[in-house]
Amino acid sequence: MINQIRLLTALSLGLFVLGGSAVAGVVGSAHDLTTINANTNQVCVFCHTPHGSDSTVTAAPLWNKALPTDTYTEYSSSTMDGTASLTNSVSLACLSCHDGANAVDTVINAPTSVTKTYNYTAGGAVIGGVAGTNMATTNPVPAVAGDAASLQNDHPVSTPYGGGGAAFGANVAAGATTDPAFTAVVGSGGATGTSKVGVLPLYNKGDVAFVECASCHDPHDNTNVPFLRVSSASSAICTTCHVK
Ligand code: HEC
Ligand code: HEC
Ligand code: HEC
Ligand code: HEC
Repeated sequence: MINQIRLLTALSLGLFVLGGSAVAGVVGSAHDLTTINANTNQVCVFCHTPHGSDSTVTAAPLWNKALPTDTYTEYSSSTMDGTASLTNSVSLACLSCHDGANAVDTVINAPTSVTKTYNYTAGGAVIGGVAGTNMATTNPVPAVAGDAASLQNDHPVSTPYGGGGAAFGANVAAGATTDPAFTAVVGSGGATGTSKVGVLPLYNKGDVAFVECASCHDPHDNTNVPFLRVSSASSAICTTCHVK
């Protein structure tokens, strides 16, 4: 009886989660783009391909999209210690859809299962030849009015952790960064290893630990809407990094 109640509870919880947008995994999440372009039922192909990927995008593995060539206006302020710069940033992978200027269903290697032929197009081609809705009209990263390529009104992206002073892969004590009001970094393995603040990953650029879109967001897991690695309840995601 108790086991049955447990089973029913587990089932109803499962159904509740499936019915909402708070899903773990890509299928059924806001990143299940088969809802935008129904010419394929493959969910990964909008971002990754097993063959013929853009190998210059090392931090976003097997990347299936041409990176945006837009010139962005970066976040800056009089109190920033570091300098945000998207040059060679993995965040360009997110902006290849989220700046609203590039179609979400344009990929380098479209799924062969659609046309039964090999579909490699270095510059990108739309899956199935019929475009879905461009994000420009749905949900780009909120832009400065009239300037979709501006990140001036967004949290700094591709910015050195703590304003600088955190070597990638090194343990950096709290207070040891250029801006001391930051949590300690746990690192290991040098430039080929990892750097994290709690569960939040930092990314390697020039052997310095950087904050990127995917430090805060896991594009594969929408358990904490919107794709947050740490819940925003009590602003826990913010205080994971900022000692405030
Ligand atoms: C909307 C875009 C998007 C979709 C869809 C997507 N990914 Fe990713 N994936 C990314 C990005 C961006 C990264 C690199 C950022 C990160 O997570 O560190 C990544 C990283 C990864 C990684 C390496 C890092 C890690 O988290 O282990 C794996 C493995 C991966 N993806 C597998 C998949 C698989 C399998 C699918 C389909 C079920 C999928 N991805 C769907 C964007 C996507
Ligand atoms: C292939 C295109 C594509 C890529 C690449 C992509 N996204 Fe998205 N993303 C979308 C679309 C489409 C939506 C849904 C927009 C909507 O609902 O209006 C979305 C939604 C989101 C949302 C809102 C989720 C919600 O529940 O409302 C977040 C946050 C997000 N993406 C972050 C990211 C981050 C961070 C990356 C890179 C690690 C990324 N995305 C890469 C296309 C993409
Ligand atoms: C992964 C770590 C990380 C997380 C999570 C994070 N931040 Fe930041 N934040 C930084 C870094 C690094 C800077 C740049 C600091 C510098 O260079 O002075 C920054 C800068 C800022 C600034 C601008 C400071 C200035 O001087 O212009 C504000 C405000 C801010 N963060 C607030 C927030 C809020 C609110 C949240 C939660 C929604 C948050 N941060 C989450 C790392 C993080
Ligand atoms: C420092 C942490 C942090 C970074 C870096 C960050 N985000 Fe977010 N993002 C958040 C948080 C927190 C929210 C939820 C805000 C809310 O509750 O309204 C959010 C919300 C979003 C949303 C949903 C729409 C909205 O504005 O609420 C999208 C889309 C998104 N982020 C995309 C991105 C992309 C793309 C990047 C990189 C260019 C990025 N984010 C970088 C913390 C971050």
